[in-house]
Amino acid sequence: MSSLTLLLLLLCSISLSTLLIAAAETGDEAALLAFKAAAVHRDGVLASWNVSSSAGGFCRWEGVTCQQGRVVALSLPSRGLAGVLSPAVGNLSSLRTLNLSYNALHGAIPASIGRLHRLEVLDLSNNAFSGELPAANLTSCTSLRARATRAR
Ligand SMILES: *[C@@H]1O[C@H](CO)[C@@H](O)[C@H](O)[C@H]1NC(C)=O
Ligand SMILES: *[C@@H]1O[C@H](CO)[C@@H](O)[C@H](O)[C@H]1NC(C)=O
Ligand SMILES: *[C@@H]1O[C@H](CO)[C@@H](O)[C@H](O)[C@H]1NC(C)=O
Ligand SMILES: *[C@@H]1O[C@H](CO)[C@@H](O)[C@H](O)[C@H]1NC(C)=O
Repeated sequence: MSSLTLLLLLLCSISLSTLLIAAAETGDEAALLAFKAAAVHRDGVLASWNVSSSAGGFCRWEGVTCQQGRVVALSLPSRGLAGVLSPAVGNLSSLRTLNLSYNALHGAIPASIGRLHRLEVLDLSNNAFSGELPAANLTSCTSLRARATRAR
């Protein structure tokens, strides 16, 4: 077989969460730095991702969107990212959008993604992930797209 493509599309009902999330800015920055350390990146895509002296500086990093000092979106499609996806993404507890489609990330999709209760959009399609998607706790997701493409 030249290739194996698995497409998983799941529509989940929106669930309203009344949980209060305490501010955890430093936790978000540490999680993003762990993401950077695990990924292999060229062409300076993560060049802006360096520790900044100003609080919440990570909110200006490429691909990062914040609301009230918390990371709500991490979107880096088609940026030539390789390496693995750090389990630390599961620490971005306010994350609503994670779009890392059209890169070359490999390895397992971390189970910690199941902790992202607020996730609405998850797109990991067109990477080289192996294994299954731990979707158990993604109660808010409205668009979940995971396609593991394994070339020969
Ligand atoms: C992610 O959270 C876990 C559990 O709270 C913690 O042990 C770990 O150090 C965190 N990782 C990063 C990179 O912040
Ligand atoms: C940190 O990021 C800024 C903004 O992109 C960049 O101008 C600067 O050169 C970077 N600093 C280091 C030490 O890489
Ligand atoms: C899913 O949620 C349950 C209950 O909140 C928790 O015990 C479990 O560890 C969660 N699973 C993952 C993969 O985070
Ligand atoms: C992820 O980003 C790509 C490129 O911008 C876009 O085509 C795709 O629709 C996005 N995925 C989702 C689920 O929104």
